[in-house]
Amino acid sequence: MAAAAIPADVLTRMAPIYERLRHVIPPFDWPVFAEDVDAILALKQKRNAVILAHNYQTPEIFHGVADIVGDSLALAREAARTDADVIVLCGVHFMAETAKLLNPDKTVLIPDLEAGCSLAASITGADVRLLRQRYPGVPVVSYVNTSAEVKAESDICCTSGNARAVIESLGVPRVIMLPDEYLARNIAAQTRVDIIAWHGRCEVHERFTAEDIHRLRAGHPGVIVLAHPECSPEVVAAADFTGSTQGMNDYVAQKRPARVVLITECSMSDNLAAQHPDLEFMRPCNLCPHMKRITLPGIRRALETMTHAIEIDAAIAIPARRAVERMLEVKPR
Ligand code: 13P
Ligand code: SF4
Repeated sequence: MAAAAIPADVLTRMAPIYERLRHVIPPFDWPVFAEDVDAILALKQKRNAVILAHNYQTPEIFHGVADIVGDSLALAREAARTDADVIVLCGVHFMAETAKLLNPDKTVLIPDLEAGCSLAASITGADVRLLRQRYPGVPVVSYVNTSAEVKAESDICCTSGNARAVIESLGVPRVIMLPDEYLARNIAAQTRVDIIAWHGRCEVHERFTAEDIHRLRAGHPGVIVLAHPECSPEVVAAADFTGSTQGMNDYVAQKRPARVVLITECSMSDNLAAQHPDLEFMRPCNLCPHMKRITLPGIRRALETMTHAIEIDAAIAIPARRAVERMLEVKPR
């Protein structure tokens, strides 16, 4: 029924894009998306805009309209490189703030201002100041999943893809690493640097248990288990590989496991299944409600109305930018 309402020329123009999505979006559903994809591609040209999409975005965004996709680190690096006038960040608020910190003169839009993150919400700038009082002289390493206000109180940022390299680059025996308790404990297991952690948790990854993995292995013999380091150390210990979302992508592309499960947000598996239809993806995943606030109609509206533009007070932006730029200077391990 939806197909009848969509002009035939739109469907013809969008056919090459559907090719990338046909393994994960049934033909019946595609017309609903096709019209927004078509409009967004035209708006991108009109606004000289680039769309950066996190690996957790849904396939119609990830494969349909994004120019650049990746993990938080890749999105930060690419945000720093782009010569577009407008950046639309399809991800959560801290990612849009990071893009704005690196592009103070560009317009950075997020389609939904409520797209938050339980980790970013777990700590404030005042908390960081208290930690510094409690541990004088100990450098503060902030996960990028923090507000600009928290980054402004930090010495350097890190992501799940470079956390160990960042911590070891400081050449100190002890660091404060915030706000993700599990990421801190997982990194502490790999390094001699003493890590003082905060008690933040990712509401998506904390739900996975080692028992889930044992059940998966029993039910799906030979399955390869990839887990994000925001999972508990017990889950990480039960997995075959742990890495950032990009690390998991690369693992699948390089090793091509016949049967694989990603212990992370749901859309990652859909996006990878679209790219690797010959591999079997198990899907015991959890949704990130914040990432799912970003939709094609929302992106279209963002580009039509140029909302919601990210603004950061200069008093916060200057020190926060320094912490992000210091991170980008660290060489990967
Ligand atoms: P990555 O940097 O690994 O993409 O992780 C971001 C995130 O929010 C994971 O929950
Ligand atoms: Fe934040 Fe977790 Fe959602 Fe990532 S998956 S954005 S860490 S709540």
